[in-house]
Amino acid sequence: MLKKQSVVIAGGGSTYTAGIVMMLIENQDKFPLRTLKFYDNDGERQKIVADACAIIIQERAPEIEFIATTEPEEAFTDVDFVMAHIRVGGLPMRGLDEKIPLKHGVVGQETCGPGGIAYGMRSIPGVIELVEFMEQYSPEAWMLNYSNPASIVAEATRILKPDSKIINICDMPVAIKKGIADIIGLADGNDIVDRYYGLNHFGWWTEMLDKSGNDLLPKIKEHVAKWGYGPSSVENDNPLLEEASWMDTFQKAKDSYSVDPETLPNTYLKYYLFPDDVVAHSDPTFTRADEVMANREKTIFAECQRVAAAGTAAETSFEAGEHAEFIVQLAGALAYNTYERMLLIVENNGAVANLPLDAMVEVPCLVSKRGYEPLAMGIIPQFQKGMIEQQLAVEKLVVQAYLEQSYQKLLQAITLSKTVPSATVAKAILDDLVEANQAYWPVLK
Ligand code: NAD
Ligand code: LMR
Repeated sequence: MLKKQSVVIAGGGSTYTAGIVMMLIENQDKFPLRTLKFYDNDGERQKIVADACAIIIQERAPEIEFIATTEPEEAFTDVDFVMAHIRVGGLPMRGLDEKIPLKHGVVGQETCGPGGIAYGMRSIPGVIELVEFMEQYSPEAWMLNYSNPASIVAEATRILKPDSKIINICDMPVAIKKGIADIIGLADGNDIVDRYYGLNHFGWWTEMLDKSGNDLLPKIKEHVAKWGYGPSSVENDNPLLEEASWMDTFQKAKDSYSVDPETLPNTYLKYYLFPDDVVAHSDPTFTRADEVMANREKTIFAECQRVAAAGTAAETSFEAGEHAEFIVQLAGALAYNTYERMLLIVENNGAVANLPLDAMVEVPCLVSKRGYEPLAMGIIPQFQKGMIEQQLAVEKLVVQAYLEQSYQKLLQAITLSKTVPSATVAKAILDDLVEANQAYWPVLK
């Protein structure tokens, strides 16, 4: 009998919460729950999701106690896991992160370039506050954080909360592996055993084997050289690729791959390798935030309201997504000592031999009751090392800027981003971002 767990989802009003609840319910045999709580600092938004999830839980797993609250003490007391996915400033601020750089001819993206830097400055205090709630009310718990921008948040937790039980994660490699599995005819992305190194949203695969140890790379590379991570025909069953912008991103991996055919790139590298092309194909009046608000947020909230009004979730379209699968797998590995191999964002400490010890890198780790053990990825080539060191400096400068309330360091961070052409442009963008983020950022000196 597996010990039953108590979980709080922080950011209960997130568009991802219902998918996580579905995944948790479907996995009661592998990760049984005694209590599930939602916590959010926007009670009204959370209530929309919670009202629907209460019905889903009542119908499908009534043995789970369910609580939705905006009170930290109630939310964080007696929990084993905090699953955190907050978006400080919400999708409207994401819209500004995207539109302000674009106004200056620079990539406007949630986690990459000046937009990611702006979001990082907002996310740091939000995530640190959650860690403090956890440490105050359930000091033995683990926090699995996937609030973005994960790299900057991870560096901030490394500095501010060095002894905390927090693991930062990202589902992009999981989603890419799911796409690859579809392409080469494997049942599941989990059937791929990989070697990968880099920073979050900034990494490369060097190896992909099947569970029998056969090398999958030659076949995958042949496909990626022609189609990127996109399918070779219009038929595909990857729900992510139903959105045109994700299909473009998956296909663009073809170009990132051409820069180094020895490795396979993370999709987000397109923002650093082809910023001019990305800007040329962006609509500064309708960015990804608008797309998410018009599609994912609208659909999910409408379905929540439909379920609540119907009083039953019998016909619900909510499904357990692969994003959620990763989180539940990780929690299960920590709770039940499975030694599962997963990509996590952790302090380097030599895992990548020729990167600084104190870099927060994304590498495969073995996960068990004692936490995570990074696997050694060895020495990486000059090209990747150069790119990573530049981006690492950006991320470290952002956290220093936050801690020291330093305008100068934030200017240096934006100037150093590979997406930004000059210090003049960096300053113009920063001044607009300061103005837009007054309600969230510390006052910069
Ligand atoms: P969303 O805006 O729909 O939901 C976020 C929720 O967080 C909102 O209900 C909001 O009220 C709440 N919130 C904001 N600040 C808070 C705070 N300080 N304390 C408590 N709650 C707070 O956002 P979304 O589109 O569902 O995305 C949620 C997060 O997940 C984002 O950070 C996004 O970037 C991230 N994400 C991560 C991955 C990954 O794999 N790492 C993948 C997808 C999304
Ligand atoms: C989000 O889901 O909002 C992002 O984290 C990724 C995307 O879809 O743009």
